[in-house]
Amino acid sequence: MLGRFRISVGSRTIQDDAWRLKKAAALVKLLALSSGHRLHREQVMYTLWPDSGRKAASNNLRKTLHAARRILDPDAGSRYLASEDESLVLCPGENLWVDVEAFQEAAAAAHRAKDPATYRAALDLYEGELLPADRYDEWTEERRRFLRETYLSLALGLARLHEERGDYERGLEVLHTVLAEDPSNEQARMGLMRLYVLLGREGEALAQYERLRQILHIQFGSEPSTAPRRLRDEIVAGRLSLSPRPPVSPPSPDPAHASRHNLPAPRNSFVGWNREMLEVKRALAMTRLLTLTGAGGTGKTRLALEIARDLVTTYTDGVWVIELAELSEGDLVPQAVAETLRVHEQPSQLLTDTLIDALRPKSILLVLDNCEHLVEAVARLADTLLNSCPRVKILATSREVLDVRGEVSWIVPSLSVPDSQGSPTVEQLERYESTRLFVERARQRDVAFALTPANARTVAKICHRVDGIPLAIELAAARVGTISVEQISERLEYCLMLLTGGGRTTIPRQRTLRGTLDWSHKLLSEPERVLFRRLSVFTGGWRQQRS
Ligand SMILES: Nc1ncnc2c1ncn2[C@@H]1O[C@H](COP(=O)(O)OP(=O)(O)O)[C@@H](O)[C@H]1O
Ligand SMILES: [Mg+2]
Repeated sequence: MLGRFRISVGSRTIQDDAWRLKKAAALVKLLALSSGHRLHREQVMYTLWPDSGRKAASNNLRKTLHAARRILDPDAGSRYLASEDESLVLCPGENLWVDVEAFQEAAAAAHRAKDPATYRAALDLYEGELLPADRYDEWTEERRRFLRETYLSLALGLARLHEERGDYERGLEVLHTVLAEDPSNEQARMGLMRLYVLLGREGEALAQYERLRQILHIQFGSEPSTAPRRLRDEIVAGRLSLSPRPPVSPPSPDPAHASRHNLPAPRNSFVGWNREMLEVKRALAMTRLLTLTGAGGTGKTRLALEIARDLVTTYTDGVWVIELAELSEGDLVPQAVAETLRVHEQPSQLLTDTLIDALRPKSILLVLDNCEHLVEAVARLADTLLNSCPRVKILATSREVLDVRGEVSWIVPSLSVPDSQGSPTVEQLERYESTRLFVERARQRDVAFALTPANARTVAKICHRVDGIPLAIELAAARVGTISVEQISERLEYCLMLLTGGGRTTIPRQRTLRGTLDWSHKLLSEPERVLFRRLSVFTGGWRQQRS
């Protein structure tokens, strides 16, 4: 409900135009925002039809209820919108996820943890104003204002933490975002003034005061209040005593966090996918099992690890990756989880039960990585853990969905690719994630490598040809320094042509990658260890997708 109204029942998303009767949607929204998702009928009537008599309101409610139930589920609508005594209840006994609640919980966790990452995680969940299309419905106003204030206070809190930790640039970034949203916010303006002073940019600090003065004058015909005025006076008089702190960059490793995850340190840069990261984090806040799916090499594991890294402080008991690629048998899955979590097998108990006992009290994120070859075993364990351990969440990566109740799957998209036609400029290419990844990895082979007007077209062609699949791009870029980009492109083209019997039709992604691998395999006279470690992940991985 933040940013816009959207509702899914199971895997089915209800289309906007299904809500022909506006009040039917309003009824669902009202209940979703109510405590316990329950409201007395009288209160529903009073809220939605404040100007109607009791009889008319009651009639309206009956019709609206009928319509809403049909939209939620034509056959079993009253399961999702139930009458209990005199109350209406949304999804009794079912899992109902409301983004507003996820945001509020994350905000509370942030205030408790006093840690930038936790603040960031909460801010990420605020997708926008509450129910913007219902701005004129009185019953939404107070909650909308409250949530917006929560968001702003989180952002100010985050900026303050950055300031305290000497991370002034990040502090500036956060405050500028707040001011873009709320230009007359005095706290944010004062935060900026302090940060500029700390950075030795007094002129800019004073310019911020001036800006505040103008905005208040234009918007409200008022003047800044005492606090910002005093701050300005102190800056002008050179009396402001702020002691700059040495920047903590990279952020000082907090020993408490180190024991809360087993994430490998990233070995190379992560490119793009900002929006996707945000989307997945939001989806994960709204479910307990999220599976990142897609063909091999599309970046499922990498994306999961990057997301997990951002969420370490969100879970009291941390984030743990269970790497399943090397496991050959499904029976070993519980054991792999137990080993990672240092849960010891008990002689008289099934390992799964021991795991349940250990995980039941925990708030923890399990990243089950590379599940595809053990889907059934992973699904079984995931289902059991989710049923018995209420605060366990699972982020899985798999070529196929696990097919567990409550699972949300998210297809990892390709990196953005340039057009294959035309002659893109260097500047244009820098906007595409795939070409950026190519350049980053090529530089690891040849530090002098750069996009130039001479090679731009070929690089674009390579990235286009491999569909923006990250692993294929990395493999192609790994040849830089050994052969020219033209040669890379030609040989790649040849291998991919073989796969389509010489035709130039588009190749399914799985085969594109296969072609790239075959090609790079043939080319590697002295196979690099790193690449081979990657290739080993694909052993037995060439089965056709089940779909
Ligand atoms: N956005 C990205 N930025 C940088 N490298 C990436 C990105 N996505 C994937 N990679 C790299 O591409 C390779 C394949 O990704 P991986 O996550 O292992 O794919 P999958 O799990 O889908 O098989 C890895 O070396 C990974 O680090
Ligand atoms: Mg993987």
